[in-house]
Amino acid sequence: MFTPLAKSLTKVSQVWVSTYDALTARICEEAGVDVILVGDSVANVYLGFSSTVQISLEAMKIFTGAVSRSVSIPVVADIPFESTHSLDSIKRAAVGLIKEGASAVKLEIPSKEAVDWIMSVAELGIEVVAHIGLTPQTFMKIGGYKKRGKEKSDAQYLIKLAKLCENAGASCLVLEMVKPEVAGEITESLSIPTIGIGSGSNTTGQVLVFADLVGLNPDAPPFVKKFANCYQEALSGCKAFVETVKEGKGEAKVTKIAD
Ligand code: KIV
Repeated sequence: MFTPLAKSLTKVSQVWVSTYDALTARICEEAGVDVILVGDSVANVYLGFSSTVQISLEAMKIFTGAVSRSVSIPVVADIPFESTHSLDSIKRAAVGLIKEGASAVKLEIPSKEAVDWIMSVAELGIEVVAHIGLTPQTFMKIGGYKKRGKEKSDAQYLIKLAKLCENAGASCLVLEMVKPEVAGEITESLSIPTIGIGSGSNTTGQVLVFADLVGLNPDAPPFVKKFANCYQEALSGCKAFVETVKEGKGEAKVTKIAD
């Protein structure tokens, strides 16, 4: 179901969750989440890749479709790294993800040069969320998975980059692993909302990965607060099933099955 992102962006204290499938997307919607991000973090979290650069556009379309068909809140889909080699392929990816039901696309903006990507997608009438700070698709270029904005020059760079993204037509900004004071300064300097992850509480909203926040992913980043312990819950359930079957008390013996 297509629901415009812009409508939801007027809300304060936005809650975004990154997730990739129908089952967990429905849980998010029922819990009151404002926006679902089909992030390319699916590469690490669900598919066992070592980085997000390995996910394909075809895979992102499948996950985007699964989520879009299952919820009525806005869905933002990540443009994968493989589509960022030219403006043409970025635009094609954006159109493809919108066709799968996404309300908007997210683009990682690792440099000032990449700001043009936002404009070229926005010109198609597609809403763009710009992602700055730690941009995992280009982690090698930015010197690894590290906090951004700690040095004055980097802080100033990010503040300028954020403004350029807004001017290029971004509807919203994701700030990943940005020093909280810098994230606050960016938020105050813009008229569009900012959604933080690992960037403190001075942003308009927050985003976390579903599997991390519910404690399902044992490899969640250290800054993530776990609001549940689903790994342990699932493990106990699964162990109970294993024991039941091994003890010869299989499901058929405890549940009467009609002929
Ligand atoms: O891919 C993703 O899930 C993301 C969020 C962590 C912001 O980019």
